Amino acid sequence: MKVIHLSVECFPVAKVGGLADVVGALPKYQRELGVDSSVIMPYFNRKFVHEHSFDVVAKGEIYQGSALLEYEVLKEMDDTLGFPLYLIRIPNLLDREEVYCYQDEADQWIAFQHAVLHYLNYNKIQPDVLHCHDHHVGLVPFLTKWSNEFDELKDVKTVFTVHNGQYQGWMSWSKSLFIPSFDTWKWGLLDWDGLINPLATAIKCCDAYTTVSEGYLKELYVEANGLQHLFYDERAKSIGIVNGIDTEFWDPALDSLIDQNYAIQDVDEGKAGNKLKFCNEFGLDPTKPLLSYIGRFATEKGADILPEVIDNLLRQSSGKISIFILGSGDSGIQEKIQEVTGIYQRDLAVFFGYNEQLAHRVYAASDMLIMPSRVEPCGLNQLYALKYGTIPVVRKIGGLKDTVIDVEEGGYGFLFNDVNAEEAADTVKRAIKYLSYADNLTKTRDAAMGLDYSWNKSAQKYIELYNQLLK
Ligand code: GLC
Repeated sequence: MKVIHLSVECFPVAKVGGLADVVGALPKYQRELGVDSSVIMPYFNRKFVHEHSFDVVAKGEIYQGSALLEYEVLKEMDDTLGFPLYLIRIPNLLDREEVYCYQDEADQWIAFQHAVLHYLNYNKIQPDVLHCHDHHVGLVPFLTKWSNEFDELKDVKTVFTVHNGQYQGWMSWSKSLFIPSFDTWKWGLLDWDGLINPLATAIKCCDAYTTVSEGYLKELYVEANGLQHLFYDERAKSIGIVNGIDTEFWDPALDSLIDQNYAIQDVDEGKAGNKLKFCNEFGLDPTKPLLSYIGRFATEKGADILPEVIDNLLRQSSGKISIFILGSGDSGIQEKIQEVTGIYQRDLAVFFGYNEQLAHRVYAASDMLIMPSRVEPCGLNQLYALKYGTIPVVRKIGGLKDTVIDVEEGGYGFLFNDVNAEEAADTVKRAIKYLSYADNLTKTRDAAMGLDYSWNKSAQKYIELYNQLLK
């Protein structure tokens, strides 16, 4: 079976969020299960492309409106990622440094999708399944069916995975001139409330859609930034498949990015060693429990309540806890975090930015990880935390609810119901108290580290889905 994943992020080529981690791992695990999986993504002018060798395997031309765009398809020569990686390069459009943030984003993703389909069609490359990730490639399930430019791809099955339903790729109808020619009777499939909505299009046209946890699927039926009825109406072709983690990169016993390796047997010493080094470096007291936050500063992730949570914890429980924050994003949130850092220098340290190595060290060094998300389709950070024996303190939502069980129910984490600083802080206090008993700490860490959140099971579930569609 031949499966091609289409995405605009893939770790380590270009990563902004969890989407990259999934697309950088899933194909590898699928290949181990005998599926011929590969990835096609846009070319980005980033470190990875300069440090690896590529062959130009195809060239072509497409029209976007009246502009003629030339594209190249580059294949990474050594399959470094454990699967074939293809990049679509279009000068001045798909050869930039950042993944997101450009004014002409709609043009970029339309061109990417057009070039991919043109390349496959023209070279008679017929995968069994095109697996599309998020709205950037949401027009693909429509185009394979309703554009006459890609006749060779009519029978290809399309699977669409929703990593985040908040972003839908809305564009004005004036962009329809840029979309490859399609059966105009079908214009309604592109439309949602007077705009072209690639996420809605994908859900209407794909053969199956998946979400990255079962909990999130049920939530989308009720609230999906305007698309809840669509998700519900199309539920017969939906399935929730929880993400896994890539244990080749995320395993404290093998991780070369942390200060001291450890496994379940020596977790206490291992974490203590990592914590000591880390706390010394960031001016924190290693004898106190260390709570961390890693992630984007976005209201979706609940990062806006962090300053208040910090204030609550450090003012009231002063002297009892250290806090570390690693992230970037919304500048308003960042400023507020900066402000509290000024007040609580002794017990709070921050690193503003994205830093993959530091993230590994934070998981290894921390006792607890907080995730106060408003929306969380799956969440990978709690899974990384569990693998590193770091106890998650999370809001009861989406994938967090599916993957973390409270200690009160015999589990290995702490959950709270609302995105509310007081509730979050109280739950952290509950965690500190509970984990302050050596027996509890050992029991909880062992339970967390003993879980299997590797990709093996979920990669298999996707394959079962492909098989059903191909029957
Ligand atoms: C998005 C979601 C996150 C999920 C990730 C990978 O970033 O916000 O919850 O884990 O995609 O699927």
